[in-house]
Amino acid sequence: MHSIPSQVWAFRLSALSAIRGLTLISPNPYPYSFYMKVLVIGGGGREHALVWKLRQSPRVTEIVCAPGNGGISADATCVSVDQKKLDSMVELAEKVHPDITVVGPELPLQLGVVDEFNRRGWPVFGPTRAAAQLETSKSFAKEFMQRHRIPTAHYAICTSQADVKAALSRFSAPVVVKADGLAAGKGVVMCKAKDEAMTAAVEMLSGKMVGEAGARVVIEECLQGDEISFLVLSDGERVAALVAAQDHKRVDDGDTGPNTGGMGAYSFPALLDEQMTQWLLHHVAQPVVDGMKAEGAEYKGILYCGLMMTARGPMVLEFNCRFGDPETQPILMRMDSDLLEAIEASIEGRVSDGDFRWSSDATVCVVMASGGYPGTIAVGKQITGIDDAQKVSGVKVFHAGTSARDGSYYTSGGRVLGVTARAPDLKSAVDRAYEATAKIRFDGVHYRTDIAARALNTIKK
Ligand code: AMP
Ligand code: GLY
Repeated sequence: MHSIPSQVWAFRLSALSAIRGLTLISPNPYPYSFYMKVLVIGGGGREHALVWKLRQSPRVTEIVCAPGNGGISADATCVSVDQKKLDSMVELAEKVHPDITVVGPELPLQLGVVDEFNRRGWPVFGPTRAAAQLETSKSFAKEFMQRHRIPTAHYAICTSQADVKAALSRFSAPVVVKADGLAAGKGVVMCKAKDEAMTAAVEMLSGKMVGEAGARVVIEECLQGDEISFLVLSDGERVAALVAAQDHKRVDDGDTGPNTGGMGAYSFPALLDEQMTQWLLHHVAQPVVDGMKAEGAEYKGILYCGLMMTARGPMVLEFNCRFGDPETQPILMRMDSDLLEAIEASIEGRVSDGDFRWSSDATVCVVMASGGYPGTIAVGKQITGIDDAQKVSGVKVFHAGTSARDGSYYTSGGRVLGVTARAPDLKSAVDRAYEATAKIRFDGVHYRTDIAARALNTIKK
């Protein structure tokens, strides 16, 4: 059915015999395919990185990405899908017949795409709707953390103005107000004063700010420290850590301006040492997976733990039930092992420490955004210089919001490109990323010039 790339012949026999041996010990409930057609759902920079990495697997013969974007169409067959409709994703899979489906964004997970595909016996990577509540309901996540003694900020859950008033009397400013549901990055307000918090909470509860997602709000103490994105792969029982990354959430240099989906991220070995990685596995990731299993909602897939490293120790700010964007770009660029194998290990319940091999290189992703992002933006601006940027050593330009027309790329979203560089040390990775970024142009372009700057300063001291 699929054509076989020549480089895979060499180890085909040994791999097949190893697998035959394994099935005696651990029977696989899914029909086994060695060569895989993969369906990736989503169309941002994270999905471009997933497609790019999956293409490196000698077992992947074809990738379909839905909906994908202009840049992804150079690496995969892009087809349209309505990610807000479960039926649309099921119909697509019926047509495409993927051997495995990888879900990028949170919305399809909230809709239950994994439950639906599982029901039909289709291999799919990610948590079920019930397990995804760790991201889709902040009040669920906070109460879950309290039940399982996972370190997090003090909080109160409110459903009325009277609740908010009572809760605020127990907090001191500054405080953080969060909408309970998914709000595309617009559901968290940092408030310097309590009256500001009251206004934000009331606006959320009224439905004006983020609709239904604000029907419940969480009031939280404001934590101070460095943020880290710590991701693990889970098979419902075991976890394996990915290398950590740091995101840059605010739109402007020096962490100023409004919060965004992420303006850049980097990863390098010194970001999280082995001792802290083990601590986080034992005190955060494993208790989450154990707790979800005990509560009847087994957690499979990527568990993204957003952490604040405070003076009281690491505290969970949020969970995401998927790969982060833009963290995935620098994380996957450091992955030397086969992503497909890790995904299969999660689906088939055999995650182990050995699922990943990582490079000791540093990686840096600079997000190039449309002017006005995260507010109102203009689209359709022609982008030039991508080929030149990719001539810089170690650089790959991931597309987040682009469309392709007549051999050119045009902007089509808030975050447009993720210029990602790999180098033996952080300083060189930063230099390469910015050398490449400077070659790309489009009207109104905005990017931060200080991605990884704080880490570089710390190294110098
Ligand atoms: P969340 O979606 O909950 O991760 O919040 C988005 C961003 O808001 C986080 O990445 C932090 O930068 C900030 N944030 C959230 N909760 C807190 C908190 N309790 N203290 C300080 N900053 C926070
Ligand atoms: N970069 C943060 C997120 O993916 O939610």
